[in-house]
Amino acid sequence: MVLKLELPLLTLELGPPLFVLCIQRGIVPEFFEQILPLLLILWHGEIFPLTFHSLRALLGHFHLNSFLHSEHPQPLRNHLNPPSHGPEDPLEQAGISLRNVGLTYRPRRKEPFEAVRDISLDIHDRELFAIVGPTGCGKTSLLLLISGILTPTTGEIRIRGGSVAEARARTEFGFIFQDPVLLPWRTALGNVRLPLEVTGYDAARRDARCHELLAFVHLERFADAMPHELSGGMKQRVAIVRALAHNPSILLMDEPFAALDEITKRRLHLEFLDVWQREQKTAVLITHDLYEAIFLADRVAVMTPNPGRIKEVLLVDLPRPRTLEMREGDAFLRQARAVRQILEG
Ligand SMILES: Nc1ncnc2c1ncn2[C@@H]1O[C@H](COP(=O)(O)OP(=O)(O)O)[C@@H](O)[C@H]1O
Ligand SMILES: [Mg+2]
Repeated sequence: MVLKLELPLLTLELGPPLFVLCIQRGIVPEFFEQILPLLLILWHGEIFPLTFHSLRALLGHFHLNSFLHSEHPQPLRNHLNPPSHGPEDPLEQAGISLRNVGLTYRPRRKEPFEAVRDISLDIHDRELFAIVGPTGCGKTSLLLLISGILTPTTGEIRIRGGSVAEARARTEFGFIFQDPVLLPWRTALGNVRLPLEVTGYDAARRDARCHELLAFVHLERFADAMPHELSGGMKQRVAIVRALAHNPSILLMDEPFAALDEITKRRLHLEFLDVWQREQKTAVLITHDLYEAIFLADRVAVMTPNPGRIKEVLLVDLPRPRTLEMREGDAFLRQARAVRQILEG
């Protein structure tokens, strides 16, 4: 059973074993900021095993997760109405610019923890930029900073010269996580359509857009399938095109291929590159797999832990389109060796 409540500003969808709350166009009624954490506790803790990460991933689509982070509680209204910077700013040029960005977590009743320090990067428009590093080095934290889900403790992040909050308000971000986080009571098509419903995309063109996207990843025959009828690779394909559905300019991907077997992963790499090129997105790919980083990316930033820092940024010297044969070639192996040496210090 799915209970769906559609009000002028928000859609509340309740169904086993998840619930979704969609705030139309980022308008957050004040009372909702108060009651939402209660809903989460009720549904999260007791009724079904929804992981914190998948909850965060899901809410990331709806720009609503600030309250999930104890370290920098800020009212959402401030996120939506940021101070804007003048056009003379030197950071204006790059697609995504980070200057001396640092993040210190301040958990309640625990010591502060410095997760990332002094990160400066310029990611170009339509670039596929990979960040590779060992588990715990701060990759996810960095992605959450870029998306505005977390606020840097030091430094500054700009998206095409504007603030991160402005980019979020324009729904410029699409997220893909390791866990596909599909809503189990919606079909594949219904899942891809979700961000279009939230962002107010032209209703007459929604389904055509979703069918086109599903066809990109060879899932047109599965448009009406429920998530439990799909394999892991198919679910992740749905998650990939869902992230693209509302036509965001920036794709933020946190280990999107990590849970897949090697064969499926390699096939999905090629499909992803195809979709990325067609849709002309700026993509930030987080991964601990250095081979994946080199195979997919234009540049690879190598991160080291304690605290997380960018040690080096390498330009990948492989032509496009990339082919699976390249993975066996000298250029690929030489670059993989270079990245491994940096990671091993
Ligand atoms: N909310 C949090 N509070 C405190 N420490 C955290 C929090 N989130 C992550 N960390 C710590 O920050 C470090 C970097 O985490 P993370 O960004 O998830 O790394 P990665 O994605 O590279 O595995 C880890 O040591 C982790 O334990
Ligand atoms: Mg991570």
